[in-house]
Amino acid sequence: MLIKIRKSWHLSESDATPEAVFKNRRTFLKGTAAALAAPVAGALVSPARAGWEPGVKLPGVVKSKYTVDEPSTPFKDVASYNNFYEFGTGKDDPVKNAKDFVTKPWTVEIAGEAANTGTFDVDDLIRPHQLEERIYRHRCVETWSMIVPWVGVPLGDIIKRLEPTSKAKYVAFETLYDPERMPGQKRRVLQWPYVEGLRMDEAMHPLTLMTVGVYGEVMPPQNGAPVRLIVPWKYGFKGIKSIVKITFTEDEPPTSWNRSAPHEYGFYANVNPDVAHPRWSQAKERLIGEFFKRPTLMFNGYAQEVAGLYTGMDLAKYY
Ligand code: MTE
Repeated sequence: MLIKIRKSWHLSESDATPEAVFKNRRTFLKGTAAALAAPVAGALVSPARAGWEPGVKLPGVVKSKYTVDEPSTPFKDVASYNNFYEFGTGKDDPVKNAKDFVTKPWTVEIAGEAANTGTFDVDDLIRPHQLEERIYRHRCVETWSMIVPWVGVPLGDIIKRLEPTSKAKYVAFETLYDPERMPGQKRRVLQWPYVEGLRMDEAMHPLTLMTVGVYGEVMPPQNGAPVRLIVPWKYGFKGIKSIVKITFTEDEPPTSWNRSAPHEYGFYANVNPDVAHPRWSQAKERLIGEFFKRPTLMFNGYAQEVAGLYTGMDLAKYY
């Protein structure tokens, strides 16, 4: 008997990627490095002007089936309560200090174990793909959480076009290093630039999103404009912001918080209520806007989709 298990998102298939778009995507996958760099008419990813302006809608966004059925945290909270140490360590520093951060033009270097390496305009990496709105749970290691309507494209779709070699076991990410534009980098609170990494199967998982917007609009700088990573079953610090480099590697790459405090932050950083941070419990969280704490869910509520990636691994050891 076929038992249908309800997923943690439940929009119908018809709300997801339309067939024509899906077919276009397949066609593009057949493309070459030249096609990768070719200009594609369509969605605007980076803002038209150098600086961010409020209210600029991203065109052609479709609703994704990968969406939780909960009200989103208000935009004012998503865009004013942030962690982005390049613009200060206070929660309200990024919104003030990143206000004039110029994100156009913006290039992303693709390096390492892949056929299609080189430097690409961010629009050329993102625009060939259908932009999707996905409402995800967003859980910070500091135990606050939000429900955020991100806009982005599956990282796996981008990776397929870059054609990683069989040696590519991990994907490493790097944030811009430019202390003049990111004044927080003048202080050594972390080793700059901010770096992150995923195992290849995590990077290819359909939930992993290269994110270019929020609430249907171009990404505000404080949230990681013009392009940041979102891995919804991991703590928020895996969601590296303002990415300028992606490298396919054979070995596990370094990650900023693991470098800074290896006993507190591991490479995997999967949300896990059973494994406490050495200085506090991870069993509960405070959803911004709610008074009472909620129990934290294994893999942030995405266990059904991602637990299989970690079969046989001791999650207390690989935290
Ligand atoms: N990326 C960079 N480059 N620098 C940072 O300080 N902070 C991380 C992550 N990405 C950070 C970063 C942390 S700790 C969290 S919780 C999330 O961004 C916060 O994302 P948000 O501000 O959009 O909620």
